[in-house]
Amino acid sequence: MDIVEAIRSRKSIRGYKSTLVAKETLKEILDIAARAPSSDNAQTWELTVVTGEVLDSIRWGNVELLTSGVVPNPDFALGRLEGVYRRREVELAIQVFPLMGIAREDRDERAQWRQRGFRFFDAPTAIILSADSSLSESRILLYAGLITQNICLAALNYDLGTCIGMQGVMYPDVVRQFTNIPESKRIILSIAIGYLDGDFQANKLESKREPMESINIPPANYPNG
Ligand SMILES: Cc1cc2nc3c(=O)[nH]c(=O)nc-3n(C[C@H](O)[C@H](O)[C@H](O)COP(=O)(O)O)c2cc1C
Repeated sequence: MDIVEAIRSRKSIRGYKSTLVAKETLKEILDIAARAPSSDNAQTWELTVVTGEVLDSIRWGNVELLTSGVVPNPDFALGRLEGVYRRREVELAIQVFPLMGIAREDRDERAQWRQRGFRFFDAPTAIILSADSSLSESRILLYAGLITQNICLAALNYDLGTCIGMQGVMYPDVVRQFTNIPESKRIILSIAIGYLDGDFQANKLESKREPMESINIPPANYPNG
C-alpha cells in the first residue's frame, strides 16, 4: 500500500471479526514496524503479543476491576483535558455515540461503550508496549509513539485494522498477572489488531482534524512568500 494512502486511511477500528491474525503476519508487521527510528538507536520498546485465553483473562480482569469501581492506575497517566483539547474530546464523543445509537443521557450504554476499550474492543489479538523502568519517560514515550504508528500503518498492508488503547492497560497489574511482563517494566499502551467488522457502526467514524490554516508556516520564511 502506498504510504500516503496508508496515512490517510488509517483510523481507529473498535469492532473486529473473531478471525485470528496469523502469527507469521504479525511477525512481519512487527518486523517492519521495528524499523522505527529512536535516538541512539536505543529501541527502548518491548512488544508482547497477547491472544486467546491470555487476552481474554486480561479483558475480563480489567472489566472486573472497572465494574467494581476500582480507580485505574496506569503506569503512564494521560491526565484530564481542558480547553481546546477537551472540546476535541467532546467532539469525538458527539461523533461516536450517534453512530452506535447511544443517547447522550444514557449512562448505562455509555458505560458499556467505555468498557469495550478495557476489553481491547473484543479484538482477537492485542500488542502490549512496555519499556524498562530505568529509562527516561522521554525515551520511553517518544519511541513508543513512533513504533506504534508504524504498526498501525503496516497493518493496513495486510487488511488489518488497529486501535491504540490506553484503556486496555489502565490496570497494568492485570496485564502483568497474565503476561510475563515483570514489575521492572512500565506498561505504555496497547494496540488492538484484527480484521475489521464491516457491520460495526463505529468503524465508519472519520475523526476530524484541525484545518491546515492553523498550521503555522509564515510566508515571510519563504523567498516567494
Ligand atoms: C496514545 C493513544 C491512546 C488511545 N487510547 C484510546 C482508548 O483508550 N480508547 C479509544 O477508544 N481510543 C483510544 N485512542 C484512539 C484515539 O481516540 C484516536 O486515535 C483519535 O480519536 C483519532 O481517531 P483516528 O485514530 O480514527 O484517526 C488512543 C490513541 C492514542 C494515540
